[in-house]
Amino acid sequence: MQDPAFIAGFVETHCHLDDGQFESERDRIVERALEAGIGMLVSIGTGDGPPDLEAGIRMAETYAPVYASVGVHPHDAAKATTETWAALRDLARHPKVLLLGEMGLDFHYDHSPRDVQRNVFRAQLEIAAELEMPIAIHTREAWRETADCLREVWAGAGSGGIFHCFSGGKAEAEEALAFGFHLGIGGVLTFPRAEALRAAVAATPLNRIVLETDAPYLAPVPFRGKRNEPAYLIHTARKLAEVKGASLETVREATSRNFREMVFARKLANQ
Ligand code: NI
Repeated sequence: MQDPAFIAGFVETHCHLDDGQFESERDRIVERALEAGIGMLVSIGTGDGPPDLEAGIRMAETYAPVYASVGVHPHDAAKATTETWAALRDLARHPKVLLLGEMGLDFHYDHSPRDVQRNVFRAQLEIAAELEMPIAIHTREAWRETADCLREVWAGAGSGGIFHCFSGGKAEAEEALAFGFHLGIGGVLTFPRAEALRAAVAATPLNRIVLETDAPYLAPVPFRGKRNEPAYLIHTARKLAEVKGASLETVREATSRNFREMVFARKLANQ
């Protein structure tokens, strides 16, 4: 793996390229992302859950600009077994795996029992700390419990990571930053009623923000409600530039550097 001392283009830090909605035109989806100015994509590797942990890796092995994460989504926590953790440790060493996750707690859908979600989140936090790898966190209607897990298991690990699809207000942003995380900002930033999020982002230093789509979910305006894809990142980037009173070029340069320093450089150093 080469070190792009400078990543040309935007970094799409969170998409589900393996999703079935992309099946028939995945090559075009990646091409359109590159045409839109995206230089690197991270395909989240949670797929349909254990025992398959390689959904992201398959994408990364198919497309040169695509990298991957591995992890167990809170929705799939109940599918994790003791074998899952050995496999996760092993796959984390894949040269194109940059992050663990998305992991965390989802008390909105409760697809897995909450105590199981907590145990599976904590197990992954321990592995990430042991491997010194950054993480992508998914938290929904479980902010306090997520923060508790981070305080108990993660504090001091120092590997940082991304609060994926951050959509909280100023208080949550401050807390996430204090844990050493970056805010993963996606299409919600463009939604008319997301005033509290825009205020939080306005108050957050640009060097603590990365961009993402969460495609095929959460498309930004003007595609809200439609299938999202990585190329649409540009709409969120423009909104971020507006909120920060910065040029699009400044936003690109800062968010790409943030990702490189937080995630990519660490992977290279650990190789
Ligand atoms: Ni996601």
